[in-house]
Amino acid sequence: MQPPRRRGPLLFSDTGAMKGRKNNNLSVFVVVFSVFLFGVFMYNEDVKSIAEFPFSRPKQEIQEEASKPNAPIQETNNKDDVASGVSVSMNSRTNLEKSQEGNSEEKQDTVVDLNSILGKEEDPKIEFPAVEEDDEDVELPPEECDLFTGDWVFDNETHPLYKEDECEFLTAQVTCMRNGRKDSLYQNWKWQPRDCSLPKFKARLLLEKLRGKRLMFVGDSLNRNQWESMVCLVQSAVPAGRKSLKKSGSLSVFRVEGYNATVEFYWAPFLVESNSDDPNMHSILNRIIMPESIKKHGVNWKDVDYLIFNTYIWWMNTFNMKVLRGSFDEGATEYDEISRPVAYGRVLRTWAKWVDKNIDPKRTMVFFSSMSPLHIKSEDWNNPDGIKCAKETTPILNMSTPLEVGTDRRLFVVASNVTKSMKVGVHFINITTLSEYRKDAHTSVHTIRQGKMLTKEQQADPATYADCIHWCLPGLPDTWNEFLYTRIIAKS
Ligand SMILES: *[C@@H]1O[C@H](CO)[C@@H](O)[C@H](O)[C@H]1NC(C)=O
Ligand SMILES: *[C@@H]1O[C@H](CO)[C@@H](O)[C@H](O)[C@H]1NC(C)=O
Ligand SMILES: *[C@@H]1O[C@H](CO)[C@@H](O)[C@H](O)[C@H]1NC(C)=O
Ligand SMILES: *[C@@H]1O[C@H](CO)[C@@H](O)[C@H](O)[C@H]1NC(C)=O
Ligand SMILES: *[C@@H]1O[C@H](CO)[C@@H](O)[C@H](O)[C@H]1NC(C)=O
Repeated sequence: MQPPRRRGPLLFSDTGAMKGRKNNNLSVFVVVFSVFLFGVFMYNEDVKSIAEFPFSRPKQEIQEEASKPNAPIQETNNKDDVASGVSVSMNSRTNLEKSQEGNSEEKQDTVVDLNSILGKEEDPKIEFPAVEEDDEDVELPPEECDLFTGDWVFDNETHPLYKEDECEFLTAQVTCMRNGRKDSLYQNWKWQPRDCSLPKFKARLLLEKLRGKRLMFVGDSLNRNQWESMVCLVQSAVPAGRKSLKKSGSLSVFRVEGYNATVEFYWAPFLVESNSDDPNMHSILNRIIMPESIKKHGVNWKDVDYLIFNTYIWWMNTFNMKVLRGSFDEGATEYDEISRPVAYGRVLRTWAKWVDKNIDPKRTMVFFSSMSPLHIKSEDWNNPDGIKCAKETTPILNMSTPLEVGTDRRLFVVASNVTKSMKVGVHFINITTLSEYRKDAHTSVHTIRQGKMLTKEQQADPATYADCIHWCLPGLPDTWNEFLYTRIIAKS
């Protein structure tokens, strides 16, 4: 349970009536929001890089654009056009609108053709030669144990769970060592819950649970970060030639032959319909959402066995969210500006309704990940000599005082609340606080930007170029997946 927070409700009401209400709370309000502003406008690379694209043309999300020399994963569309600012011809929204002319709302144009992506499954019974994985039973923590309250402990015996250069599916966005990071201790931290222990990770055991099943992450680039981690965790037990990764539109599918299992990622940064849904050209400064419209995406989530949702980072670059009046399909452009937590609540209630109506809890496990925090201001952890997260090599281990790194906790409260009130039981993956301690784990300057590795000059300028939103792999998202693993293997 979250201890009651004075600030939460207070902010709620103040945000709704920002225009000129003066009271004692105002200074608190101003301070907190200054922090938001700072982060939002100066540092939100994922969302937009104002420094480089001063309010002009849409920019692609940092790692989406890619002609990456090191990356084994090939994007299907032509990134060069995008990177050079030439307008992109294949805009899926445009195509969508065209193809939908005169059709009813139910027309499912965004349905991804699964057969073309998944390919044909051959004999699902083929067994792999046993990888050396001991037979000792995996001990499950009691169901009621709070997995998310605990400590980071150094453990280079068991962590990392896989090696960076042994997972061919990692994109250049996250391969920090290959990209020049010198310290590697960030890979060696294990999350130790206070009252129980996470079960030992066994890739084969997880694969058995995924046999004949689909697991899908749905959300923004942080969920994709976690998806890449999950692909690596699973693939370690699969021999070469029996695994493949295909991207097609909003859906990326990692497939394990023999097990007929998939680990998928579906791009929907707001979960509901928005003008940022194009998987390749989505960094739109003027973000507009349709908080009550989710079917077009949802149709792609049906019949999945494990669904993991998130949405956060895309909410963070403005105080208010723009909510469309009407529908994109009808060419509507007018919108209302609604305070962030209110709009977030509307979106999550739409999502919850969809889940309750479309998910059979006997078949499908549903997870919702809380917000992944940013580390953009080193004063937040008392390091006046720091530059964003760039110089950090150890987690924050002093947990005696609560940490404040600018996370919008109001959204946490909404998410925690909504997931509790649903008919379908949703596993709330409470990663926020424990990740706030991991200032050391971001990709920082050891990553790509607009599809290209940062240059030496850019790497030398972390104040401008460090990405303190996404995380290195192996790294923190592996721990998030250990939580999923714990729940998945516990399901009979
Ligand atoms: C989430 O986890 C943190 C510790 O990591 C804990 O303090 C908090 O109460 C948890 N919140 C919920 C809603 O579970
Ligand atoms: C683990 O860390 C200890 C202490 O830093 C070090 O002595 C040891 O060599 C490390 N082991 C591995 C496998 O890296
Ligand atoms: C493979 O898995 C899918 C679900 O992901 C299922 O619909 C299909 O029947 C499975 N195929 C075989 C041959 O088991
Ligand atoms: C932990 O942090 C608090 C507040 O910053 C400080 O007063 C305390 O001395 C720190 N404890 C240790 C062991 O560093
Ligand atoms: C939590 O949910 C309940 C019932 O859905 C609602 O009445 C309440 O206002 C919500 N509280 C917050 C803080 O969102």
